[in-house]
Amino acid sequence: MKKQNAFHGSDLERVEATYGISKDQIINFAANVNPFGLSPFLKKELATRVDVITRYPDRDYKALRTSIGNYCHTNPDHIVVGNGSTELIAMMAQFIKPKSALILGPTYSEYEREIGLNGGNVDYYELKESDNFCLQLNDFKEALRTHYDLIVICNPNNPTSGAISTAEMDEIFTEAKKQNSFVMVDETYVEFAPDMEQITCVPLTVKHDNFICLRGVSKFYAAPGLRLGYAVTGNKDLLETIHRKQNPWSVNSFAEAAGILMYQDTDFQNATKEFMHAEQTRCYDTFAKSHKFKPYKANANFILLKILDKELTSADVFEACIKKGLMIRDCSSFPFLGDRFVRFCFMKAEDNTRLMETLLHL
Ligand SMILES: Cc1ncc(COP(=O)(O)O)c(C=O)c1O
Repeated sequence: MKKQNAFHGSDLERVEATYGISKDQIINFAANVNPFGLSPFLKKELATRVDVITRYPDRDYKALRTSIGNYCHTNPDHIVVGNGSTELIAMMAQFIKPKSALILGPTYSEYEREIGLNGGNVDYYELKESDNFCLQLNDFKEALRTHYDLIVICNPNNPTSGAISTAEMDEIFTEAKKQNSFVMVDETYVEFAPDMEQITCVPLTVKHDNFICLRGVSKFYAAPGLRLGYAVTGNKDLLETIHRKQNPWSVNSFAEAAGILMYQDTDFQNATKEFMHAEQTRCYDTFAKSHKFKPYKANANFILLKILDKELTSADVFEACIKKGLMIRDCSSFPFLGDRFVRFCFMKAEDNTRLMETLLHL
């Protein structure tokens, strides 16, 4: 399914080698990382704490889990931390070891890869283009009447930027419970949503214990190199299994220190949200008026576009942009999307304007 030249957001070095453009000259619209960069507060505070790497982190990460618990308004005992949400996705595939899994897609490829590596079979529940990639809840609930060991939902979803509400998620967990199915929800992009409180499933932890919610700091906090992720679940057995089986100290002491500090910077959080909500609307409206691309509503910090010009493929659009130093995501490697979709994340306003002008003049 993978096309040779569909580069991922982290493939800057490969792009540099293929197109002969220095990676410093490339604006990366494909990595989905907040263009604000690190919060100034975090940068200043962390710089005074480099000595933390001379000691092991707290094996129980008590202060870190308390900081995350305050941020998410949830019980720190229901939180586990990991080396990015990537480690947590891998751990779920290893510890639950699902024989059968249902993934809501098109979506991020790591779920299928990890489940496959652990010997599981994956079915996709397809979000349809004819529904603008929005979930039809009743139809999905029908699909849940079959038992799956694991159901995977990315919310907001990468790459469609669609979102499922907390109320809908409540119904999904209830339906899944009837079949003894466990649900993994990846909320990597939830803080970018126009109204995160209407979307997050974290508050449902007090009601349902058949799900785990994963999050991280790579995107919203612009810290993908820190490798800090966390998960929230009310499932006591799963928490116990994680405590027993997870490698000790998988979050390093620098990331531990950062995680204790970063959630305090509410100015950074508010400024990011305000900027992203403005760009979600501005970029959607710009393409909605064009005859070249169809935009889908953005609930995350990126937008999916369908190429309407029959002469152009996603590889052509990628190539035209990268030649100007603008790296977008050719979505042809995602299931169901074929070669007519591209995705870009919101960078600085002037960069977004430049990218939109480039796309609209193709
Ligand atoms: C949906 C989704 N989940 C998880 C990740 C990986 O996040 P992390 O850096 O926290 O491991 C990504 C990265 O692109 C992603 O798009």
